[in-house]
Amino acid sequence: MASTVSFSPAKVQMLQATNSHVRAAPSSCFAVPRTGPRPRSTGVRVSSEQEAAATVRAPSGRSIEECEADAVAGRFPAPPQFVRPKAPDGTPEIRPLDMAKRPRRNRRSPSLRAAFQETSISPANLVLPLFIHEGEEDAPIGAMPGCFRLGWQHGLLDEVYKARDVGVNSFVLFPKVPDALKSPTGDEAYNDNGLVPRTIRLLKDKFPDIVVYTDVALDPYSSDGHDGIVREDGVIMNDETVYQLCKQAVSQARAGADVVSPSDMMDGRIGAIRSALDAEGFNDVSIMSYTAKYASSFYGPFREALDSNPRFGDKKTYQMNPANYREALLETAADEAEGADILLVKPGLPYLDIIRLLRDNSALPIAAYQVSGEYSMIKAGGAQNMIDEEKVMMESLMCLRRAGADIILTYFARQAAGVLCGMRSSK
Ligand code: PBG
Repeated sequence: MASTVSFSPAKVQMLQATNSHVRAAPSSCFAVPRTGPRPRSTGVRVSSEQEAAATVRAPSGRSIEECEADAVAGRFPAPPQFVRPKAPDGTPEIRPLDMAKRPRRNRRSPSLRAAFQETSISPANLVLPLFIHEGEEDAPIGAMPGCFRLGWQHGLLDEVYKARDVGVNSFVLFPKVPDALKSPTGDEAYNDNGLVPRTIRLLKDKFPDIVVYTDVALDPYSSDGHDGIVREDGVIMNDETVYQLCKQAVSQARAGADVVSPSDMMDGRIGAIRSALDAEGFNDVSIMSYTAKYASSFYGPFREALDSNPRFGDKKTYQMNPANYREALLETAADEAEGADILLVKPGLPYLDIIRLLRDNSALPIAAYQVSGEYSMIKAGGAQNMIDEEKVMMESLMCLRRAGADIILTYFARQAAGVLCGMRSSK
């Protein structure tokens, strides 16, 4: 008995095998890292660290197979002799620091690091923004490598299909509207047969289980390229714009949208949209509010994608000043009181403090938007071999989660989910 104590996991398995009169192959009854290719049936990616662990040798220097053979024969290792591993010549001889706490102890092996990892990320946390247009073809977006304006009837369905394959079930739609349909009051935004409502109906018909988020704002429909109606003197009119946004949100809900997402930053729009939805019987349609949306230069590539640059001026009278922190609390309080279901911070990585601020001050789910400029920088850095695109992508998403984001809107959603599923990056 005593001779097998050191190998208790194997012993238990062998006993089970014996009791049930099933002879387990000796190689299958020893719980140590194995050499050779590992099965990938779990759907969880095996990290390169774990791959390295798979080729370890026992401390005695013997191979894992030799150890297994010993275990099966009932032999067990003698207590190891403590031999201090050799340091390079010239290493100073010192007395160890007298330190009770050494945080590195919990980081010293892949299994320990995995055990104490505080944050995780799964494809279910990701929302994929999709650009759509009336065309048949998919048109590449110059400033966003790997992103396209997708034909709403073809390319879009294909993209959604592929994203679902890696566990991404949430999508947010951004339309490229033909210039002829743009106007100062953006009325195309609530055309029930416009590009977005038509696309929602098509998507929901083909993939009933997906979550469709929509963008509520006038900029794709505005001949001025602003999120609201522009008065003669350049002022963006708040309450009149909110009136239009309510019609837009209801039209999207009627088409089957699950979550309407006002990104316009007008005051009072959450409460007004909630009332408008409820009045039409859409009590179950959620509102994801762009609560803290900053007047950021990181939106550049997106505006190129949709040709939605403001025709004059900037968006600083409605989007927040990047220098402001406390002000995000005012927006949070208003959105919560008005009935928002999800609070969003945008951009993402440069605004981690704001994500944490909202996380700590609201019980609502928090969304982060890793915007176009963030995406393009990582893509460009990767293309120039300045950074490892895939690793930086995964780290940036993990950091958004660590800061407190429940969900992340990211153009990387499909690529990152592929990595999480253990597939090779599609780049
Ligand atoms: C506009 C809108 C913008 C984005 C999403 N919705 C741009 C803007 O405010 O000008 C930016 C998204 C991105 O950069 O990825 N309602």
